[in-house]
Amino acid sequence: MRTQVAIVGSGPSGLLLGRLLTAAGIDNVILERTSKEHVLGRVRAGVLEQGTVSLLDEAGAAGRLHREGLPHDGFSIAFSGRLHRIDLHGLTGGRRVTVYGQTEMAHDLMDLRNSDGATSVYEASDVEPHDFDTNAPFVTYSKDGITRRLDCDFIAGCDGSHGICPRSVPQKAVQHYERGYPFGWLGILVERPPVDHELIYVNHERGFALCSMRSHTRSRYYVQCPLDDRVEDWPDQRFWDEIRRRLPEAAAGHVTVGPSFEKSIAPLRSSVTEPMRFGRLFLVGDAAHIVPPTGAKGLNLAVSDVRYLFDALVEFYREGSEAGIDAYSAKALARVWKAERFSWWMTNTLHRFPETGPFGRRIQEAELDYLSRSEAASTAVAENYVGLPY
Ligand code: APR
Ligand code: PHB
Repeated sequence: MRTQVAIVGSGPSGLLLGRLLTAAGIDNVILERTSKEHVLGRVRAGVLEQGTVSLLDEAGAAGRLHREGLPHDGFSIAFSGRLHRIDLHGLTGGRRVTVYGQTEMAHDLMDLRNSDGATSVYEASDVEPHDFDTNAPFVTYSKDGITRRLDCDFIAGCDGSHGICPRSVPQKAVQHYERGYPFGWLGILVERPPVDHELIYVNHERGFALCSMRSHTRSRYYVQCPLDDRVEDWPDQRFWDEIRRRLPEAAAGHVTVGPSFEKSIAPLRSSVTEPMRFGRLFLVGDAAHIVPPTGAKGLNLAVSDVRYLFDALVEFYREGSEAGIDAYSAKALARVWKAERFSWWMTNTLHRFPETGPFGRRIQEAELDYLSRSEAASTAVAENYVGLPY
């Protein structure tokens, strides 16, 4: 089999890149290790920057998003018993974010790929990129017990942080940057109305908390917990008691308790792989970088990578220029590092770090007090949260 662009991974990066390429008349094949059901079964965040919504519009994939997504003009930070609202719309000249589950976005893109008739191979095992340091790369994989070969012009490694593409690049040519955090997030989903019409991020001496949502009837909550905690340590009642202890009283009184139908614990980390391009192989999204979820940047960074790579590939095929391809890594990393910084700042400012002691806590309180009294500081948070320019 032959195609122009081989895409490894059918997550948001791979699906969006595939849709844009297909719409531009550039042939592509997606090779995905798991099943469609598995991809759609993942519970992931869904705060979309305006740039993400715009690119989904351009891809013709935003119809349901505009019907069902929740536009948010602000969010609040709770600390020292009070709430400070970050007025995204007012501080950024009218920009906002949209709450729309990543799973829904994947669903929409998969449906489009089906109607496009573009080729996706699910449950493809032993996917491996080859000869990407030449102009004739190819990918091998197994399907139904038969080893197959996909010849291509380019390989897009959209296979996430544990993918084969990030593991296949020459390790001597790679610089890894990594920061781990000494805690995890315990998250639940519950079919109950959210606490507020906007998100509430909480800095509390007992730890971080976040009140989010998926719709007007489905809420998503998180509490910071020790890394070695297990889901079994957190029966619903303990979770509800804890989230209400960490919220200011006014908000705690609006928590609608109910049975969780999803509960999981995830570690947090920051990581970046440089560069993001190796000959005819490009790393995209989580395959190149990971952010702690505190800044809601993971999905949005995957989308800006896709924007840059898509534009570069169109330029190559339509104009025969390699300028965009040569510039991809530096351009993507410039935006990645700014989002890494913001996500790191949100994580350091809102979580409890026992090792930094009473001094560290006071610094956090001073940071948040300053933020609540300075329009300049709140504007800096707002413009990062809605998304810096591409
Ligand atoms: N071969 C084929 N597919 C693979 C392989 C492999 N060796 N390894 C991983 N994959 C697939 C995974 O099964 C997954 O479907 O690649 C896909 C990677 O998707 P994501 O991990 O979602 O990464 P990405 O598309 O970059 O999206 C980033 O989605 O998962 C969230 O937190 C993440 O918000 C971020 C965004
Ligand atoms: C979520 O709704 O899952 C969510 C929202 C905002 C974040 C992280 C997660 O910063």
